Amino acid sequence: MSLGELTEAEHAAADRALRSSAGPELARAMFAVALGRPVEDELSLRRAIALRWLDENGQPTALGNQVKDPLREFVFWEERGRRLPSEELSPVLARPRFAGKDVLEVGSGGGCNLLSLSGIPHRLVGVEPMPLYRQMSPMLAAMAGLPEPEVVEGWGRELPFDEASFDTVLCYSAHQYMRVDRALTEMARVLRPSGRLIVVGNTFFPFAGETVVRFARDRSLGTLKYDLTAIANTLAYQLRGRRALLPTDAKNTTSTPIYPTRGHLYRAARHAGLVPAIHDQRTLPTGETLFVATRR
Ligand SMILES: C[S@@+](CC[C@H](N)C(=O)[O-])C[C@H]1O[C@@H](n2cnc3c(N)ncnc32)[C@H](O)[C@@H]1O
Repeated sequence: MSLGELTEAEHAAADRALRSSAGPELARAMFAVALGRPVEDELSLRRAIALRWLDENGQPTALGNQVKDPLREFVFWEERGRRLPSEELSPVLARPRFAGKDVLEVGSGGGCNLLSLSGIPHRLVGVEPMPLYRQMSPMLAAMAGLPEPEVVEGWGRELPFDEASFDTVLCYSAHQYMRVDRALTEMARVLRPSGRLIVVGNTFFPFAGETVVRFARDRSLGTLKYDLTAIANTLAYQLRGRRALLPTDAKNTTSTPIYPTRGHLYRAARHAGLVPAIHDQRTLPTGETLFVATRR
C-alpha cells in the first residue's frame, strides 16, 4: 500500500511556509477550507494557491486535501486551549497524571496530543504509519513554538518497542482503524505491569445512532454509504475477524473504520492481558467511549 506522502519539493515548500511568521494564518486558511468555509484572508489564499494546496478557484487540490487534515487538527487544538481532547471530562485524562511517566500514543496523527503533553512525561513518543502526518508533525510543533515530538513509523499490529517499555499507552480516535484485537495485544505487550491503557474513540452503538441522526439531518448519500460500510465492516470483523469491504483509498489509513462494541473492547482487552478499570469507563458527552484498562 502506498500511503500519502509529500514529495521532497512539497515537503520543503510546506515546511518553509508553515515555519514562517505567516504559518499560523495559512493553517487557519486551510482549516476554513477543511470546514467548507470561504478563506477570508487574501494573502493566505494566495499563499495556498502558490503552494498548490488550492486551485485558482480556492478549491483544495489533491495535495491540499492531504495537508488540510493535520492543519485542521492543529487549529482545533489551538482553539481548545492546547488541551487533550476531553481532558476536562475525566481525571484519567488530566495532564498532570502523565508527569514522570513513559507514555506512548498509538496513531498519533499530526501529533497534537503529543504537543498537549509536551514536557510533562519522562518519555513521550508517538507511533504513526502515515508518512504525511510524520512529515507534518515537526511543522505543527514549530508553529506552536514547542519542541518537535518523537514520532516513529509503525502500526498498531506491530509496535516497534520492547515489551514493558511504557507506563501509559494512549490511543485517541485511532483504534477504529486498527484490527483492534491485535492492536490491544500489542499495547498490552509494551505496557509495564500495572501500566495503563487509555482508549478514547467511538464504539458501535453510539456510532450507529449518529449514523441515523446524520442522515436525517444532512440527507447525504455519500456519508450514509461511508457510515453503512463502517457498520457492515464492524459486524463482519466481530463475527469473522475481518472486514467485509476493503479500503477504497489505499493512500489513506483512515478510510475504512471499524467501531467495535464496548463489549468487544472489554473481551479483547481481557484476552490481551488487560483488566478493564471499571470506575473509569465512561461515555463522554461527545458520544465517544473512554475505555481504560490496566496491564496485569
Ligand atoms: C483520526 S487520527 C487521530 C490522530 C491523533 N490520535 C489525534 O487524536 O489527533 C487517526 C490516526 O490513526 C492512524 N492509524 C490508522 N491506522 C492505524 C494503525 N493500524 N496503526 C496505528 N495508527 C493507525 C492514522 O494514520 C491517523 O493518524
